[in-house]
Amino acid sequence: MKISVCGKGGSGKSTLTGLMAKEAETTGLKVLVVDSDESNSGLYRTLGFEKPPIPLMDLVGGKKELKKKMGHANIFNEKSIGIQNIPADYIIGENGLRLVSIGKILQSLEGCACPMGVLNREFLKKLRLRENEIALIDMEAGVEHFGRGVDVSIDAILITVEPSYESMAIARRIKEISSGMGKPFWAVLNKVKSNAVATKLKTDLKKSSIEVIGVIPDDPLIFEASFEGRPFMAGAATRAARGILDFLLSIE
Ligand SMILES: Nc1ncnc2c1ncn2[C@@H]1O[C@H](COP(=O)(O)OP(=O)(O)O)[C@@H](O)[C@H]1O
Ligand SMILES: [Mg+2]
Repeated sequence: MKISVCGKGGSGKSTLTGLMAKEAETTGLKVLVVDSDESNSGLYRTLGFEKPPIPLMDLVGGKKELKKKMGHANIFNEKSIGIQNIPADYIIGENGLRLVSIGKILQSLEGCACPMGVLNREFLKKLRLRENEIALIDMEAGVEHFGRGVDVSIDAILITVEPSYESMAIARRIKEISSGMGKPFWAVLNKVKSNAVATKLKTDLKKSSIEVIGVIPDDPLIFEASFEGRPFMAGAATRAARGILDFLLSIE
């Protein structure tokens, strides 16, 4: 199963991806986390790794070389890509939890992120998962990736929604897009401070036929872990993530 986590910047995509990845690992699944956010680079720390993998963009020779190198020998020339086929430097983690990164914008005037969208789309299309494997894709913020077709081979789309007008608006937009694509789509509320807020958001989303499958509270453990750049400690948020994962696995 390939599950993408979308939403507004700062709404909790990386947090939810990280939480679910850890929970999936504890259930005995082999998890591949795909870091598709070209702007933020801290996901590897959240997952407990010391350094990030070399981006797949470098495997094809960097953005400028993408077009040329797509023709040369590399995993992108194969019909399908298994987790075990990804060259060692480009994937980190040994046991149940692994991480790849598509690419990062590191310099000014580097150009736009479109080639990364292309590479991400091709990678996700070619990625073949075995029975006990799951891929969690930490998407770039917003809706542009849909325009680039990055999501065509995704099995289910999750959106993180924080209590803000903009975040709700993006949820409605992505609901429309995913319905058009015929993809299952669910919302996860994040940074929720009270039951009253959760009910309000759920009621509002229901009007747009958006089903909420989990509520992650505003959790000081998440704040502290993210501030210090280390993995999350078990608490209310990890329990919520487990519930979301169990739901997704039950509908397979
Ligand atoms: N449930 C939560 N409780 C407290 N802080 C949170 C929670 N979810 C996210 N945050 C904080 O909000 C910020 C943005 O979260 P992040 O997952 O990086 O968002 P995104 O990946 O969507 O940009 C981070 O500093 C993170 O620690
Ligand atoms: Mg992020």
